[in-house]
Amino acid sequence: MKTIIEPFKIKSVEPIHFTTEAEREKILEEAFFNPFLIRADDVLIDLLTDSGTSAMSAKQWAGILDGDEAYAGSRSYFRFEKAVRSLTGFKHIIPTHQGRAAEKILFTLVGGKGKIIPNNTHFDTTRANVEFSGAEGVDLPTDEGKKPDLIADFKGNMNVPALKALIDRVGPQNIPLCMITITNNSGGGQPVSMANIRDTKALLRQYNIPLFLDACRFAENAFFIKKREPGYATKSAAEIAHEMFSYADGCTMSAKKDAFVNMGGFLALNNDALAANARNLLIVTEGFTTYGGLAGRDLEAIAQGLEEILDEHYLTYRIRSVEYLGQKLVGGGVPIVEPPGGHAIYLDAKRFAPHLRPDQYPGQAIVCELYRAGGIRSVEIGSVMFGKYDASGKLVSPPMELVRLAIPRRVYTQSHIDYVIEVVLDVYARRTRLRGYRIIEEAPVLRHFTAKFAVLPS
Ligand code: F0G
Repeated sequence: MKTIIEPFKIKSVEPIHFTTEAEREKILEEAFFNPFLIRADDVLIDLLTDSGTSAMSAKQWAGILDGDEAYAGSRSYFRFEKAVRSLTGFKHIIPTHQGRAAEKILFTLVGGKGKIIPNNTHFDTTRANVEFSGAEGVDLPTDEGKKPDLIADFKGNMNVPALKALIDRVGPQNIPLCMITITNNSGGGQPVSMANIRDTKALLRQYNIPLFLDACRFAENAFFIKKREPGYATKSAAEIAHEMFSYADGCTMSAKKDAFVNMGGFLALNNDALAANARNLLIVTEGFTTYGGLAGRDLEAIAQGLEEILDEHYLTYRIRSVEYLGQKLVGGGVPIVEPPGGHAIYLDAKRFAPHLRPDQYPGQAIVCELYRAGGIRSVEIGSVMFGKYDASGKLVSPPMELVRLAIPRRVYTQSHIDYVIEVVLDVYARRTRLRGYRIIEEAPVLRHFTAKFAVLPS
């Protein structure tokens, strides 16, 4: 087989900024060892997120010029609505400025004290919106999904028996809806199988509980189904995506991922009453129903992006390029969540730096060293992001300590990725000398964005 190449040529470029290791040391200190607080100009390769960082296509930029900025009934809204409806099949399509705005509206309406929201694994903003409403978010990953070194096809799956046990324990009347996040971002970017979506729906149907997809990375999930699930090899990614959505009653979507846009999202659903309430809330918080916090040009770019994302040359390249990074790291002995996910490689910090305890934030130690050594920005997904304190003030850690290297869509070439591989291997070779961190300042929610750290003495 020939090399899988980038299925595009580059029409417009943006310089990246080089710094010295001494400069980065100072920058890190000034940012209190939190890469969210570093200026992007001081980052060489930015793998903080794949969200809103995509390169748009020439046709998307053309759509930006063509956007209709009418306050009400804009042409661009109707193009957007048509694109989302033909993808998802949902009746009501409500634009929001990004994914979490859709979550905020949804959980304001269905959440509240005493309510429980199950999810294969909540993304941090989803959990925050569930909890902000007073409800409780419950993660139900499978046992496979919790083992970073286990190779399996669909480690993002929902634990259906655990979901049944939860429903029976708390009562279906307390579960206004169940979510499945595709792909499972916090669980390592792992896909969810069609069979699992179908089984989850079949269970929920018995209790009359709606199923919502957190659909940010639906196309990557669809492509994994095509490659891995029996019976789907000859179906198109678009057909697979349609089938996935057909089992759901609605979805939230951050278009900043699998719609290649820098800003945008939507809430889509079938329930008329819920949609009417959502639109009322939208008007208060986001904007009129035909723009919802977005400019007409953004709606054009989303509509175009949703067409491009299902191109199988693109998806082949996308999944392969992430896998390439993963394979090279594994080849160098670096522990990662296996197999590689759709949008990111997750370093397994527990095995990478076993000399650091969770309360010494091993993931943060790796994140800082990747920046110091190579100007690479990554993000900790472990005790910093999800840690809580018990009544005695002791840190309660999540099951995994990970570092995410998220790959922006259509942005970096293979030589950028080869450079990333060199830097990770270099840091891995020096791993026993990594020092731990402690938090010196933190916010009550989503603390990872703004927390300040200090290095522990060696
Ligand atoms: N759901 C998932 C699975 C996500 O990954 C994100 C965002 C959201 C919801 C919220 O969307 O940012 O548009 O409000 N994930 C980004 C990330 C931030 O880096 O993974 P948003």
